[in-house]
Amino acid sequence: MGSAVVGLNVAPKRAIFADLNPHIINFYNMLKSKELNSFIVAEYLREQGALLAEKDDEHYYYIRERFNQNHDPLDFLFLNRSCFNGMIRFNKSNDFNVPYGHKPRRFAQAYITKIVNQVRHFEDVLRGNDWTFICQSFEDTIELADGNSFVYCDPPYIGRHVDYFDSWDEVQEARLYRCLYKVKTRFMLSTWDHNQYRGNQYISLIWNSCHKITKEHFYFVGAKEENRNAMMEALLTNYTTTGNTNKTSPRHTACEQRALAL
Ligand SMILES: C[S@@+](CC[C@H](N)C(=O)[O-])C[C@H]1O[C@@H](n2cnc3c(N)ncnc32)[C@H](O)[C@@H]1O
Repeated sequence: MGSAVVGLNVAPKRAIFADLNPHIINFYNMLKSKELNSFIVAEYLREQGALLAEKDDEHYYYIRERFNQNHDPLDFLFLNRSCFNGMIRFNKSNDFNVPYGHKPRRFAQAYITKIVNQVRHFEDVLRGNDWTFICQSFEDTIELADGNSFVYCDPPYIGRHVDYFDSWDEVQEARLYRCLYKVKTRFMLSTWDHNQYRGNQYISLIWNSCHKITKEHFYFVGAKEENRNAMMEALLTNYTTTGNTNKTSPRHTACEQRALAL
């Protein structure tokens, strides 16, 4: 699920969106049930934005504290849009711990309009489609797929900074590989391929039987300046873009066999 940017762009008629972060899923479920809507979001951001402009840090940390107690989805949105670099990071006690972003007039009218329009767009897309949002790990979600499903996975990038609800390591990456091959359906996975310093060794260690498409992307959101670099991103699939799939008899390398055994 994440920010839903991929889902919104692909806009499938019927889909299950899953994420381990309950606050993300809760936010979208509230929009689906109409407990939240773009008008409520607009009013909330105008009110809290004015308080942030007046009290600055003090108000940000007040909302952060309140969110960590009540888990209000509107406070989650506020934090996400005013914290440092838009990061989503939780500590071991599952408390949101990203510091304040210190952008002057953060919730100026133009920015509120932008966010509200995004929510409105989401509401419009939701109206025309059959979408379900579930908070669960990928193992349980992939299990729901059948031969007609298409599975898209965008896990935290292995071996890079992880600022998500859950950490991600090679055991998770190998488990994801095993789950995907078990369901025997078409899948696509986003990951990183290389930057100027190093490459993603797991592409050859784990995903070697996949087809790969790469595209350069420039990151502006690294916490440190040196992390704001061009990155070659990879899309891995178990089928070719010409439509031939290798889903029934993938040939696994020795490393992949080990990953399957994990
Ligand atoms: C790169 S982001 C996804 C971005 C998303 N495709 C988008 O459109 O914004 C990775 C997501 O994986 C989630 N995640 C981490 N571990 C997970 C797990 N075991 N199962 C499911 N989701 C997980 C994180 O909470 C995070 O939202």
